[in-house]
Amino acid sequence: GDSYDEECDYLFKAVLVGDSAVGKSNLLSRFAKNEFRLDSKPTIGVEFAYRNIKVGDKMIKAQVWDTAGQERFRAITSSYYRGALGALLVYDITRQATFESLKKWLHELREFGSSDMVIVLVGNKVDLEIAREVEKEDGKSLAELEGLCFMETSALENLNVEEAFLQMITKIH
Ligand code: GTP
Ligand code: MG
Repeated sequence: GDSYDEECDYLFKAVLVGDSAVGKSNLLSRFAKNEFRLDSKPTIGVEFAYRNIKVGDKMIKAQVWDTAGQERFRAITSSYYRGALGALLVYDITRQATFESLKKWLHELREFGSSDMVIVLVGNKVDLEIAREVEKEDGKSLAELEGLCFMETSALENLNVEEAFLQMITKIH
């Protein structure tokens, strides 16, 4: 509400990117509303959510944009990235193909995003350890190579979700 806005010290925009069904929308709903859906539908176009979060003695209003991983449902790319200070680049640890796609997503982030954007690489769905196809070390190595932060998460179990967003937010401010 309005009282939050008045108490807010900083407002910033962040974006979610990654292949379809890696869990972007559920990471966002977990972060913003503490909600998770097993039957969530693919995102069409662009959605966004807010969360006010205290970092140190500052109140930060994070505006997080979420779009479709599927090309045919995606909105105009340049406006999606415009003004974004942070990004969560998400893959699914149970699907190697979503890890292979990261090169393409990084290329897009660097083409349309600002050069000093803070990017956190997120390997989601660690609750499905039994079906793991991407080793944690591989995620870590890629993050090191590309100069990104790194975190493995589970939107389902609410594991490291807040931490992933916080890593991004605290690096920005
Ligand atoms: P698009 O909107 O098409 O780009 O997909 P998305 O990346 O937003 O994926 P979404 O959040 O819609 O999740 C896709 C499916 O994965 C849904 O069935 C979710 O319930 C499931 N899912 C998301 N996160 C997790 C997780 O941490 N663990 C498990 N087991 N399932 C998850
Ligand atoms: Mg989605």
